[in-house]
This record gives sequence, structure tokens and C-alpha cells, in this order.
Amino acid sequence: MLLREVFTQRRSVNFFNPEKEVSTETLKEIIELAGLAPSAFNLQPWRVVAVKSDAQKEMLFENANKQPKIKEAPMTLIIVGDREGYSPDNSMWAELKAMIGDEQAKGAIDAAGFLYGSSEERKIKFAESNAGLYAMSIMLAAKELGVDSHAMSGVDFEGIKKAFNLKANEEVVMLIGLGHYDESKALYPRRARRELDEVLEIV
Ligand SMILES: Cc1cc2nc3c(=O)[nH]c(=O)nc-3n(C[C@H](O)[C@H](O)[C@H](O)COP(=O)(O)O)c2cc1C
Repeated sequence: MLLREVFTQRRSVNFFNPEKEVSTETLKEIIELAGLAPSAFNLQPWRVVAVKSDAQKEMLFENANKQPKIKEAPMTLIIVGDREGYSPDNSMWAELKAMIGDEQAKGAIDAAGFLYGSSEERKIKFAESNAGLYAMSIMLAAKELGVDSHAMSGVDFEGIKKAFNLKANEEVVMLIGLGHYDESKALYPRRARRELDEVLEIV
């Protein structure tokens, strides 16, 4: 698919066909492609929990305002952002050290600590902005591989965090249902987008 087609054809699919699985192989392909998303210092402060089993789906459903698509989609991804992913124990720093040497890498580690770790607001911005780009990349990669998606943030973030035993520094950024559109149900028409002069300011 051309990238333009991926953009125009991706829709938030409210109705998933529960009979049509997404294979683990396809899921891995989506996640690998999306991993090429950009991130600050290439730190990739994110991970994904793919919720597939009935028991885990039930738990997610209860913490996601009982949105039916959680049960209908063959799987729902919890996009997890790391609020402290800039810290020296991020394994990606080792790769940078090998590339540019310890001394220079230390400068980058110190800079990241200040830029992203010096206030709670910065920590949240760091986690949300990086994992947000990753989430969009997952939806586009999925479409390219013939898989439909639906992002959700009308959920109980803290409830999901607890139910799925996320670490203190981790936060739920959004959920993404993955599967295939149930063509027996009508998808609402594509909603309008803001006009260019409303969203674009050239200064
Ligand atoms: C971060 C985010 C959160 C969303 N949360 C929900 C949600 O909780 N429930 C829902 O039905 N749709 C949700 N949506 C889907 C939007 O309503 C949808 O993307 C928008 O109406 C545009 O439709 P389209 O994606 O088909 O172009 C969410 C989308 C995004 C990006």
C-alpha cells in the first residue's frame, strides 16, 4: 500500500469480527515496523501488553468503560509509556556508548535527565509524546499489513495500571484494539477534519 492509501484508508473500526484472528507473527511484524518510530535520544520509552485471553480481556473490559470492542477485537494492545525512560538504566544508552564513547554518551545522559526528568510535567510529556508517536505508528503499520485498529483513551488508566501490574514509573498511554472490521455492520462515515487555516499557522 502507498503511505497515502494507508492514511486515507485507516479508520477507527468500532466493530471487529471476533472470528478473524490476528496471528502472533503479524502482531510481531506490526510491532517491529512501528519500532522504527522516532523517539527522544532514540530511547524508545515504551512497551506493549497484548491482551488476548478471555480472562485478561474481561479485566481490561471492566477498566475500559465496558467498551464492547475490547471483547470483539481478537486483541487489544495496552500502550505503556515509561515516565523515567530517560534514566541511566535505559539499555539503549549502552548502544549509544558503544557508538560515540562513554564520555560523550554521559553528556547525552545528563542532558536527557534534565530535559525529561526535572519535573513531573516533563516526565509525563516525555512518556506521552514518545509513546503517542509509537501508537500512531502501530496503527499505520497494522493498516499496511491488512489489520484494522481502534485507539481508546476513554478508560480507567489507573485501574488498568493496577490490574496489569505495571511498574510505578509506567503509565497507560492508550489502548489500541486490533483485528478486522466486521463488514456486516455499518461503520459511521469518516468525520470531517478541521480546515487548513484553522490548524496551520505559518509565521
Ligand atoms: C487517543 C485516542 C483516544 C480515543 N478514544 C476512543 C475511545 O475511548 N472510544 C472510542 O470509541 N473511540 C476513541 N477514539 C477514536 C476517535 O473517536 C476517532 O479516531 C475519531 O473519531 C476519528 O475517526 P477515524 O479514526 O476513523 O478517522 C480515540 C482516538 C484516539 C486517537
